[in-house]
Formats: sequence, C-alpha cells, structure tokens
Amino acid sequence: MCHWGDPSLRQPCKAVAIIDAALRQLAVDMLETMYHANGVGLAAPQIGRHERLCVIDVPEDAEKEEYAAVNAAIPMPLILFNPEILSREGEQTDEEGCLSFPSIHASVTRANKVCFSFVDPTGQHRTYTAYGLLARAVQHELEHLDGGVFIDNVLDRSAIESKLTKLEAKTRRRLGLV
Ligand code: NI
Repeated sequence: MCHWGDPSLRQPCKAVAIIDAALRQLAVDMLETMYHANGVGLAAPQIGRHERLCVIDVPEDAEKEEYAAVNAAIPMPLILFNPEILSREGEQTDEEGCLSFPSIHASVTRANKVCFSFVDPTGQHRTYTAYGLLARAVQHELEHLDGGVFIDNVLDRSAIESKLTKLEAKTRRRLGLV
C-alpha cells in the first residue's frame, strides 16, 4: 500500500484501452487488498499502478437508511475501468479517511449525488447514480485517478498537518527519498 509521501499518489492514471486477463486479475487483487485493509475503496495509484482503475464496496449497512435502498440497485463490489463522473448534485459533509493515510480522518464536503459511468471487467459500459456514502466513495476514488487525495479538500487541514508531516517523512524514509 502506498502511503502519503509516495509520489505514486500524485501521478495521474491513463485510460485503459483493452481490459485483458491481467487487468481483470489486477482488479481482483485490488479488491482483496481493500477487504484485507477493511477499506470501502481502493484506486490503482495506491498500489503503485497507473491504469484508470478503482474498486469500491460500500456495505449496505454502512449507508444511511435513506440511501441504502436506492444504492441497492448498484451491484457490489464495483470494479471501475475508465470511470467518469457525469454529474454532481447536492452537498454532504462527513469524516473521511483513506487507506493511504492510516489513522488520519478529516471532514470533507462532497456532492451528495453523483451520476457516473465506467467500463466493467466484461467490457460493458455502465452508468449508475449513487447517493450518500457510495457517492462519496466514487468521488474519493476517482480523485485518486487524477493524482488527487482527500486531504486536498479537507475543511480544516491545520488539524491534521502534523500527522501528515510525520507520515510523509516516514514514507519518504522508507522509500529512500530523503
Ligand atoms: Ni483513498
């Protein structure tokens, strides 16, 4: 897992041209890594890859009741090749974390509803509309694919600044970048 301070997190991803067996296996491996880390989403740059690919699995019971029913139409887990957000609506603010930022949480404002499209592992183009936590996860993971991270959008970065500095220094030492 790439942690904050790893340049991989800032490198934008390239669209996938052909979804072959190796890429399908990569997606399965990413799901395994995500579940093992108790995450609800994982994007390629977090494991040092730069294909436009992310995986998401938001459990129904983690979702607010008002959104669980509408999001239930979206089959989990989601394996998203070349995902794009087509539209955003409304606003939600909640604590967010990221597997690349262990034990760092901060409030982020996101759209409450997103319509997004992607190509699934069979090559089928799909479009879904998600609300609440799932909408948040989609925005968080797609941000990773553009070299963004959630701390770019936190409401009060000063509250986590010292933790970030420590994590960045630790990662850079581990990678031999200092
Ligand atoms: Ni993340």
